[in-house]
Amino acid sequence: MIRLSKSIIGEKEANEVKRILLDDGYLGMGAEVGKFESDIADYLGVSFDNVVCVNTGTSALHLAVEAVVEKDFEVLVPSFTFLSSYQAISAAGAIPVSCDVHEDTLSIDLEDAEKRITHKSKAIMVVHYASNVANIDKVYEFAKKHNLRVIEDAAHAFGCTHKNKKIGSFGDIVCFSFDGIKNITSGEGGAIVTNDAHVLSIVKDARLLAIEKDSDKRYNGQRSWDFDVKRQGYRYHMSNIFAAIGRVQLSRLDSEFGPKRIELLKLYQVLLGSNQNVVFQKHEQDAYIIPHIVSVRILNNQRDGLKDELEKEKIPTGIHYKPNHLLTYYKTDYNLPVTEKVYKEIITLPLHPEISTSDVENICKIINNYLN
Ligand SMILES: Cc1ncc(COP(=O)(O)O)c(C=O)c1O
Repeated sequence: MIRLSKSIIGEKEANEVKRILLDDGYLGMGAEVGKFESDIADYLGVSFDNVVCVNTGTSALHLAVEAVVEKDFEVLVPSFTFLSSYQAISAAGAIPVSCDVHEDTLSIDLEDAEKRITHKSKAIMVVHYASNVANIDKVYEFAKKHNLRVIEDAAHAFGCTHKNKKIGSFGDIVCFSFDGIKNITSGEGGAIVTNDAHVLSIVKDARLLAIEKDSDKRYNGQRSWDFDVKRQGYRYHMSNIFAAIGRVQLSRLDSEFGPKRIELLKLYQVLLGSNQNVVFQKHEQDAYIIPHIVSVRILNNQRDGLKDELEKEKIPTGIHYKPNHLLTYYKTDYNLPVTEKVYKEIITLPLHPEISTSDVENICKIINNYLN
């Protein structure tokens, strides 16, 4: 049966895990994590010091928010995102302020965000939905104008570029996810990338219970026995096992996973492109997009019927995402009209490197038959 998304793991990853289990013998955070950080830094073209691996993308976002936003201050964030973005903000004691998105790009609507700025606004968290790094230049102009920090939720956008620059190689604080179904996986995992020395020192310690400068010791096989702690920390470090998986995955991204994901998205676009009831997300020009998901809008109240039809044919689909401002914990006393409209239209179609072109042809045939 076709899967909506899937971890693509092979012999190479298995052998590297075996090496850590049997040869290295240290499964916690040690030298392998340092090597994964170094590989990521080389891939992005940034300094080794600028990459901090943690156990999930959500932890990366949590530490990033906590490093730059004090308790009870506000973070502007699109409601149309995975719950992680919100939980990361509230876990840091900050307040997520729900903003609307643009209907075509599904990225944050800065005019709407501007209306929600208060004296407590400290940061804007933008989400590269479905790997589309839309309006990022405008986001940085906006942040400068309003004196805000920028946290990029780039969970979907590892390997993508904006104007030939890799996401993570520029900007303020960029957070990636390497969970099981992302562009690359480390099993579970995430990374914070920034060149802000103050933020780096906070997040490096915070992932290891805030024990000062423990990371460097661990990369050399040592531990801190005499140490100080000056703030709240967490057990958010990455394990050597996960780093070993991530290193192999990174080496496969540009040769295997990226081209395959791009090819499948293009095929969907060709086969559904003339269907008046299917609207693809508008992608930023000058971008290289490795799609983590393919989510389209189905017009004229036909989304739920189509979802049922596809599931009858054993084609799984998803809804990314239920808007956060509709959840009890994050409920707003205002509406976000575009987000609420898009939520009723959006459907995610199967996409991962093991899907074949004939699978996509079959899926598109069912969609075109149903909608025409
Ligand atoms: C937009 C977005 N943000 C954050 C995350 C969190 O990543 P993780 O699952 O690694 O915690 C995800 C992952 O699903 C995501 O899709």
